[in-house]
Amino acid sequence: MSLTFDVVVIGGGPGGYIAAIRAAQLGFATACIDEWKNAAGGPAPGGTCTNVGCIPSKALLQSSEYYEHAARHFTDHGIALKDLSIDVRKMLARKDQVVKQNNDGILYLFKKNKVSFFHGRGSFVKKAEGGWELAVGGESLVAKHVIVATGSNARALPGVPFDEERILSNDGALRIGAVPKRLGLIGSGVIGLEMGSVWRRLGAQVTVLEALPTFLGAVDEQIAKEAMKAFTKQGLKIELGVKVGEVKSAKSGVSVAYVDAKGGAQTLEVDKLIVSIGRMPNTTGLNAEAVGLVLDERGAIVVDDHCRTNLPGVWAVGDVVRGPMLAHKAEEEGVAVAERIAGQHGHVDFNTVPWVIYTSPEIAFVGQTEQQLKSAGRGYKAGTFPFSANGRARALGDTTGMVKILADAATDEILGVHIIGPMASELIAEAVVAMAFRASSEDIARICHAHPSLGESTKEAALAVDKRTLNF
Ligand code: FAD
Ligand code: NAI
Repeated sequence: MSLTFDVVVIGGGPGGYIAAIRAAQLGFATACIDEWKNAAGGPAPGGTCTNVGCIPSKALLQSSEYYEHAARHFTDHGIALKDLSIDVRKMLARKDQVVKQNNDGILYLFKKNKVSFFHGRGSFVKKAEGGWELAVGGESLVAKHVIVATGSNARALPGVPFDEERILSNDGALRIGAVPKRLGLIGSGVIGLEMGSVWRRLGAQVTVLEALPTFLGAVDEQIAKEAMKAFTKQGLKIELGVKVGEVKSAKSGVSVAYVDAKGGAQTLEVDKLIVSIGRMPNTTGLNAEAVGLVLDERGAIVVDDHCRTNLPGVWAVGDVVRGPMLAHKAEEEGVAVAERIAGQHGHVDFNTVPWVIYTSPEIAFVGQTEQQLKSAGRGYKAGTFPFSANGRARALGDTTGMVKILADAATDEILGVHIIGPMASELIAEAVVAMAFRASSEDIARICHAHPSLGESTKEAALAVDKRTLNF
């Protein structure tokens, strides 16, 4: 006997668990299947984001930032500390506790919203009367609608599998038991910079090898330049334009042969190596081929603008489909699909999906970069305001960076906002709201911002678009 549901979601990451909750809120009999196991073998819903991504990385970023403040910046405030030390095991245990709180929170939300939860691997069996037959453990489920939200996995260097001891993916990178003396990272993307920052702050000598000749190519060039300056000053060694060759792992550490940007043969010797060269969509065990679910050449499930796959009643969201691999993008798609199933008009605006890199200084942006506007031939005006001229930033002792606003030359509509500096992750929300409402830079310039606040820099950057800053 099969259990029948209106909606079954496969995958309990931010795309899947949010889709399930929204579907249940809309009155559908809903189930969510997730296979992630905690250390005791029990359920740990929340996916990559909760278990080995957003949440644990931010916990370690916070701990290591406190440590760096105590080690380097407290003296500026007249605070003296003796015998400062870091207990890495305790830091990791705290991180695990934060993860558990989130896992438990999701199980609670499933109960609260009457979502049936199945712990195990879900796979397609066949097209069935009234929908799709799925298997999980010994159970058979039939669903009118299936939402696939199976996420992504770390990409390994060809021929260099992760052992999570010395050659680490994001998973092992979050479990290093003691501060390594020498840490190598392949890829200066988001994970490379965030994880590199954590271990650098705690005392590791960090070298990042990046294949591309430009740093943070997707980021506004002016902001990327400022970031490179700040990270280099902190002691992150970032080598651009390299070609990574043979990687050898031994008890004593890892050696990476590479050719540098000038064509010279080099070797990097490190104790641990984190490989953070992007992620691949994950459909392992889904049995997609049995039902003819179409994947693209990268292994992503092919969907249209509404997250519909080639199969009727089968939808897919999050990292397993096209688009940025971000938790909030996955969540938005999950909500939109549940609402579309209910006959509503779920909508995701890719132009207003913000990006945040949680380094120090933080980097956050939304909309288009200056280089994108230039290459599209779009007329624009730019306004920038440095945090060094903001009273709150001075009081915080954190004045690196700026807010930059790009607005249409003719209509003044905001086309992009780029922030590097303190609390950029929080400041970007105002920009996203403004862009969602298609505000002009003048709209932000006319809005009263609390004083003293970092947000005043956003107002001043908007004033700068019209060349009339008040405090700079
Ligand atoms: P996932 O979170 O990957 O969840 C998929 C779930 O499906 C998993 O639990 C998996 O076990 C389960 N599953 C897969 N196949 C099956 C199956 N057949 N049956 C049952 N279950 C299955 N994004 C941000 O927006 N902000 C950040 O700060 C951020 N930090 C990150 C830091 C790191 C180190 C990493 C690696 C990623 C980070 N991300 C961040 C990206 C973010 O984690 C992903 O974009 C997000 O998790 C994608 O959500 P998802 O629901 O599509 O997939
Ligand atoms: P990434 O795509 O951000 O960066 C990968 C980097 O590796 C790129 O700069 C690329 O040029 C480089 N690279 C690729 N192959 C290489 C090679 N052979 N040698 C040297 N360099 C190479 O991927 P990353 O850092 O692995 O993160 C994966 C994804 O996870 C991100 O794109 C993002 O979507 C998500 N994420 C989001 C975070 C956030 O929102 N704060 C934090 C961490 C991850």
